Amino acid sequence: MEDQAEKLREIMKNQQNGTSGEESGAPSSSSRGDKTKIIAVASGKGGVGKTNISINLAISYARMGKRVIVLDADLGLANVNVILGVIPKYNLYHVIRKQKRMKDIILDTDYGIQIVAGASGFSRIANLSDEERKGFISEMKALEHADIIIIDTSAGVGPNVLDFVEAADEAIIVTTPEPTAITDAYGIIKIISTEIEDFDMGLKLIVNRVSSVVEAKKVSQRVINITSQFLNIKVDYLGFVFDDPGVSLAVKKQQPFSIADPKGRAASCIQTMVNRLEKVDPREGGGMGRFVRKLFGGNGE
Ligand SMILES: Nc1ncnc2c1ncn2[C@@H]1O[C@H](COP(=O)(O)OP(=O)(O)O)[C@@H](O)[C@H]1O
Ligand SMILES: [Mg+2]
Repeated sequence: MEDQAEKLREIMKNQQNGTSGEESGAPSSSSRGDKTKIIAVASGKGGVGKTNISINLAISYARMGKRVIVLDADLGLANVNVILGVIPKYNLYHVIRKQKRMKDIILDTDYGIQIVAGASGFSRIANLSDEERKGFISEMKALEHADIIIIDTSAGVGPNVLDFVEAADEAIIVTTPEPTAITDAYGIIKIISTEIEDFDMGLKLIVNRVSSVVEAKKVSQRVINITSQFLNIKVDYLGFVFDDPGVSLAVKKQQPFSIADPKGRAASCIQTMVNRLEKVDPREGGGMGRFVRKLFGGNGE
């Protein structure tokens, strides 16, 4: 296992140095995986808006000309495709089982983003056999053309969620103003910060379904204060999304809300956040190479 991780690091390093046999001469082409920014979207409580936020963040990025893939890692309740009104025939499970290639399961959508459907057939990525793992890693390279990969995880902190969060460049925690959601947001931040070794990632907070800017600020301050006080963790407030009846209407139409109602309150909040995210420099040494190393390389080394 250790050897394999070592080998993988070597492969990724060579790739990043451009020694993978591809001699295009174009330095730092954006097709290089190390340029891919990977954002995991997580929450303590279910139903707080992760899937809607993931998809609409992705669409906002796509409108800026970025190539974006939404990877549905919500194993039990995979529903990225439902909100987009597409029916994937195959998912990551088929890739891991070598029944399909990654490139064959990436789905284009009408909204300028691509999606990869989640696998509901395995319990933990870290528990894959060596062969499955190797296959999966090399298949991940088929996603390297993306500038941004947004991972929509399941609620709570199942092992897969932690695997994905650990491997990502940054994690966005979604909460609503409900006390139960806030408590669970604190819970997941606590688990992330204690379970993930060499915890050094950027944790960002989105408060969804707020009725006012003041409410959003209050909720975010509460989360930021308790996490800094009790966990010594810095959480950045990324922004809020208004509670907007247009969201539910869009879901019923199986359309992303920023398409169904581009000038709506929820859509403009998403746009504001993407603008803010884009002002932040990409994390150094992140991207696909780090993602794969973290996902498979063992204890965060
Ligand atoms: N900003 C919002 N305004 C109004 N309703 C929302 C908003 N965000 C989410 N919802 C409602 O919550 C439901 C669950 O959202 P979803 O994105 O599926 O949550 P999760 O992925 O966290 O389980 C949506 O179908 C919608 O009805
Ligand atoms: Mg969801």
